[in-house]
Amino acid sequence: MSHILLVTGAAGGLGRAVVARAALTGAKIAVVSRDAQHLADAFGEAHTHIAADVSTFDGAQLAIKHCVETLGAPSMLAHCVGNILLAPVARTTEAQYRDVMRANLDSAFFTLGAFVAAARSAAIPASACFVSTIAAGIGIANHEAVAAAKGGLEAMVRSAAATYAASGMRFNAVAPGLMDTPAAAKFLSSPALREASAKQYPLGSIGSADEIAEVMLWLLSDSARRVTGQTWTVDGGFTAVRPLVR
Ligand SMILES: NC(=O)c1ccc[n+]([C@@H]2O[C@H](COP(=O)([O-])OP(=O)(O)OC[C@H]3O[C@@H](n4cnc5c(N)ncnc54)[C@H](OP(=O)(O)O)[C@@H]3O)[C@@H](O)[C@H]2O)c1
Repeated sequence: MSHILLVTGAAGGLGRAVVARAALTGAKIAVVSRDAQHLADAFGEAHTHIAADVSTFDGAQLAIKHCVETLGAPSMLAHCVGNILLAPVARTTEAQYRDVMRANLDSAFFTLGAFVAAARSAAIPASACFVSTIAAGIGIANHEAVAAAKGGLEAMVRSAAATYAASGMRFNAVAPGLMDTPAAAKFLSSPALREASAKQYPLGSIGSADEIAEVMLWLLSDSARRVTGQTWTVDGGFTAVRPLVR
């Protein structure tokens, strides 16, 4: 039986990479964006397109309902919605804070709730993968809002993994470092900026969306059937390694 995979933030850098890899597995794929044109630009007529804002309760319910009615209940969720804000807490406006929480935490919470309800009513096994950031696990300057939102996301993943373990459902997250996608474009807009960023990582270079997509699809797959409640860090050694300074 082929899987039905719902990808949120599908027209973004990571979302596109997840969809491209998942398409090779023969999964039926529903792609979600707030803007139908983003989906048309990214995927043409391929896949099932769903225009919904999953950062709201109603939007997340709508996205899952549309998937159930057109493809069936999704057995896998790759939640790729999110944004980045670089600002110290004392210079973060209320509007910026709300935007970060909406994009990174509200969207994850509402989408997970709707996904689990649909999987339970269809009585199918299900797994979901979310996207955190290394800034949730280690203090990185000027990331207070994103760290708060993604730290909440990681805690949500652990709790949901506990709640639904007996039902055979698995929930995990990945934590990338800087990843070469539209969200990071302004931090990588010149060769000098790219070089300075790459130097922050013991393994060098900037992470790619495809590397993260590969890990997400593994976590979603049955090959990871003993893995739940985890956040898998993929960061070129940023958080775990302190190389010799020469
Ligand atoms: N790029 C990095 O360096 C980096 C590092 C660590 C973690 N991350 C995380 O990786 C994930 C994927 O990001 P990406 O790099 O692929 O960025 P991206 O290309 O900007 O894609 C993210 C997508 O999320 C959707 N989105 C943004 N704000 C939203 C909101 N308020 N409500 C609903 N949808 C919203 C947008 O889709 P539509 O406009 O089409 O709806 C956007 O295309 C995010 O969770 C991000 O926080 C990224």
